[in-house]
Amino acid sequence: MLRHRDQFPTLSSGIHLLSHSLGPVPKGVRESMSAYCDAWEHHTSEDAWATNWWELSQRVGDRIARILGGSTGSVQIQPNASIALTAVASCFDFRSSQKNKVVTSELDFPSMEYIWDAQKQIGARVEIVSSPDGISVPLEKILNAIDDTTCLVALAHTSYRSSYRVDAAAITEKAHAHGAMVLLDVYQSAGVAELKAGEWGVDFLIGGTIKWLCGGPACGYLYVRPDLQRDLRPRLTGWVAHDAPFEFAHAPMRYARSVRRFAQGTPSIPALYSALPGLEIIESVGVETIAAESKRRTEKMVEFALEHGWRLNSPREWEKRGGSVMIGVDDGPQMVERLAERKVFVDSRPRAGLRISPHFFNTDEEVEEALNVLAELLDANT
Ligand SMILES: Cc1ncc(COP(=O)(O)O)c(C=O)c1O
Repeated sequence: MLRHRDQFPTLSSGIHLLSHSLGPVPKGVRESMSAYCDAWEHHTSEDAWATNWWELSQRVGDRIARILGGSTGSVQIQPNASIALTAVASCFDFRSSQKNKVVTSELDFPSMEYIWDAQKQIGARVEIVSSPDGISVPLEKILNAIDDTTCLVALAHTSYRSSYRVDAAAITEKAHAHGAMVLLDVYQSAGVAELKAGEWGVDFLIGGTIKWLCGGPACGYLYVRPDLQRDLRPRLTGWVAHDAPFEFAHAPMRYARSVRRFAQGTPSIPALYSALPGLEIIESVGVETIAAESKRRTEKMVEFALEHGWRLNSPREWEKRGGSVMIGVDDGPQMVERLAERKVFVDSRPRAGLRISPHFFNTDEEVEEALNVLAELLDANT
């Protein structure tokens, strides 16, 4: 795995443990962005679209699909994960039936809450399953919230706040038994945990490339279960989602007979170019290998934290955890600054504390050093 380390110039400037937020840029991105500029510069007509740009969304989408454990043609690129979620929300007609309950959790990313809260105006009922300890949401509580009035269970697969990972298969089984669909926000999982979209039978996955997938910003994605795609008619739409976009036809909308029906307008071409090198590296290392290393490293980190009596704000058990370990500290932003002075790069979030995330390109020595520096700083504070 470490042979890929020199693909990331940023790593020479310190210990990068920030993959939950902004992954380091792969060397290949400069070349890829240059290819984007070349394509734009050298085409005097519109043929940059014809030769590459138009089908680039699908190419990138298919690469992401493999990482999610989905099949070719199951992923549509989106501007970001929030829009991907809104596109899914726009497929539901909450007013037309009693089946209008959406189940979410307290540990989801705030966009989830904002977007579902906004759907209340058009008839959605939203149940936010609480987290008694602020770290996990007991599976039983999630399962108990699902009933015959539930139309969608929409949860973070791995929480941005505690790294708590839900049991996707168990939730999908219960939801489907009640005729409800399941959406998982895998932004904090894809690229570091093994995902099995097809095997789980999950209906939707959303996320983006900027974190564990080592891509640039504004390249979100939406996975839609292939046999479900044609039943859905997102109200958040646009000309690119049309079956024949270049007919420039009048309404009513005739949705594409592929996952492209979940597109909106012109895709962000630079974002696609910036995502490709990272996706190639992740594929060549292999998610299975990355996940195994993540398990080994985060186990060690958790052990270290417990031995030192630190406040662990992530689950202890690996099966319930993503690739990050959260440590409660008194003043998160200040500790982030002090760690950065020692060239250890992490971040902090309210109710989470420090978020520390080793990825495949880190060495064991780096992780050890980061923890030792933190121990030193915490000792100095007591
Ligand atoms: C779990 C999770 N979901 C969603 C988002 C937000 O994604 P976007 O900015 O692409 O809408 C984040 C970003 O930090 C996240 O961690």
